[in-house]
Amino acid sequence: MSIKEAMSRFTTGVTVVTTHFEGQDWGMTCNSFNTVSLEPAMVLWSIRKEAHSHQAFTQSGSYLVNVLQADQKDTALQFASGPQPERFAHQAFEHTALNNVKLQGAVAWFECRLVQLVSAGDHDILIGEVLGYGSRDGDGLVYANRHFGVLAAFES
Ligand SMILES: Cc1cc2nc3c(=O)[nH]c(=O)nc-3n(C[C@H](O)[C@H](O)[C@H](O)COP(=O)(O)O)c2cc1C
Repeated sequence: MSIKEAMSRFTTGVTVVTTHFEGQDWGMTCNSFNTVSLEPAMVLWSIRKEAHSHQAFTQSGSYLVNVLQADQKDTALQFASGPQPERFAHQAFEHTALNNVKLQGAVAWFECRLVQLVSAGDHDILIGEVLGYGSRDGDGLVYANRHFGVLAAFES
């Protein structure tokens, strides 16, 4: 079994991270998101160094993490490939004061200022301080073994 396969056994949530750079919206599906610190509130995610959006996310200064709802599998797929303008097509969203895209339907969002960039092999880890956040009731989309799903909780 490859290391990639072994890593894929780790079940995660799914997010779409967005930023605004050089007059354009940028977004990509991301499951490396995680929470780090409560005081101050900090989160992290990692981006492939070869990603086309790498420069946008590492130089714009801020980004917004949209935590996808269980019914947003199509959104996860739409933001995983293709030209940037097509990723935002047919999506309901609004821009924040920092110009980052907040997707309608997400169960939670965290808008962050990039405070630390850590090089780690073929990825960079982006550590952000949370400037704003929100959430609502609903189940998050789940990803494991390269499949999307929903969480089936045990009874009590
Ligand atoms: C479920 C899922 C999770 C992903 N998580 C990440 C991630 O954490 N970091 C990353 O760099 N790419 C991740 N990707 C791949 C990126 O979404 C994809 O490579 C990127 O959108 C390619 O576009 P770009 O090169 O134009 O930026 C993920 C893809 C999927 C389907």
